[in-house]
Amino acid sequence: MPAWSGSSVRAAAVSLRSTKMAATLSTRGLSSAAKGQLSPGAKIGVVGMGLMGHGIAQLAADKAGFQVVALDKNPQAMEKGVKAIENSLSKVYSKKLKDADSSEVSKKVESIMGQIQGTSDINDLKGCEIVVEAIIENLDIKKSFYKELGQVCDADTVLASNTSSFPIGHLAEASGRPDKVVGLHFFNPVQMMNLCEVVKAKDTSDATFDIGMDFANKVQRFPVKCKDTPGFVVNRLLVPYLAQALTMYDRGEASTKDIDEAMMRGAGHPMGPFHLADYIGHDTIHSIISGWKDMFPDEPAFIMPKCLEELVAEGKLGRKSGQGFYKWEGNKVIKE
Ligand SMILES: NC(=O)c1ccc[n+]([C@@H]2O[C@H](COP(=O)([O-])OP(=O)(O)OC[C@H]3O[C@@H](n4cnc5c(N)ncnc54)[C@H](O)[C@@H]3O)[C@@H](O)[C@H]2O)c1
Repeated sequence: MPAWSGSSVRAAAVSLRSTKMAATLSTRGLSSAAKGQLSPGAKIGVVGMGLMGHGIAQLAADKAGFQVVALDKNPQAMEKGVKAIENSLSKVYSKKLKDADSSEVSKKVESIMGQIQGTSDINDLKGCEIVVEAIIENLDIKKSFYKELGQVCDADTVLASNTSSFPIGHLAEASGRPDKVVGLHFFNPVQMMNLCEVVKAKDTSDATFDIGMDFANKVQRFPVKCKDTPGFVVNRLLVPYLAQALTMYDRGEASTKDIDEAMMRGAGHPMGPFHLADYIGHDTIHSIISGWKDMFPDEPAFIMPKCLEELVAEGKLGRKSGQGFYKWEGNKVIKE
């Protein structure tokens, strides 16, 4: 019995279990999954209805037409995530169908929401062709969750992690089905960022990797193939770049504003490194760098800037706390 298995919550007008389709999909899809392709309208799971998970669930229902089990162990977080999807879809379709009347928009949103079943019961993942995990970035919690997933999910369900900083191989091992585990690293905000890094770990089978590529394609994100290395592609380049900018500031070589202006005007970046670090959150960057320093002590690119340690100690985490290198009012940066 999973520690947190609670009651299933109906978050949408049409429940998966109430449709005949769901019953046939769960069996029909599995044979397709083994071939490296997800079935049209497949039942899939997304776990963790936070910042990332709700966005992935939205794309899976809206862009790919999947039947989505949206799971969060915390019922309030699940409800908040499902509500966020509904709000986001309303915005998307109010713009897309700008000449239509509001009832048409509501009908469209309602129909997509009908593909999403919010739940706090892990057993609802049975029959899923793929489960995309986007729970909290904590290795011990993730490992014990993968162990549980491995026990609950059907034998040929593919498990995919959205982790930003942990080796996919560690989660694969914990699951007891390492050939069926792949990385699917989406970017924040998921609804806007058109990239998905598809990560092949040591034991990921070709069919599982193909399922990962197929998922990324079906949710209309550009897939790039990566190996199971720290930070995959984007963060492996981005985090050391941010660390270099912050240590340049530590050495007193230029001001935060001047470094930001230099990188925007000279390198064509849409925002400078201090603005970006504030946006991401200093606690997040700090935890990524400390994890990498522990795992790869000989890698010279993984350095901890002094100013980053100070900001985290003072609780100045950037956008999320209202103060970092700059002041923030919600999502708006105030550069005085
Ligand atoms: N935030 C980002 O910018 C970003 C970008 C790319 C990838 N990621 C990765 O995505 C994952 C999720 O990050 P987030 O920012 O969405 O986190 P978040 O804190 O916003 O959401 C995590 C959710 O997972 C739920 N949860 C925790 N343990 C659970 C469990 N055992 N079972 C079910 N639900 C559980 C929590 O209740 C919470 O709602 C992390 O692995 C993170 O590294 C984050």
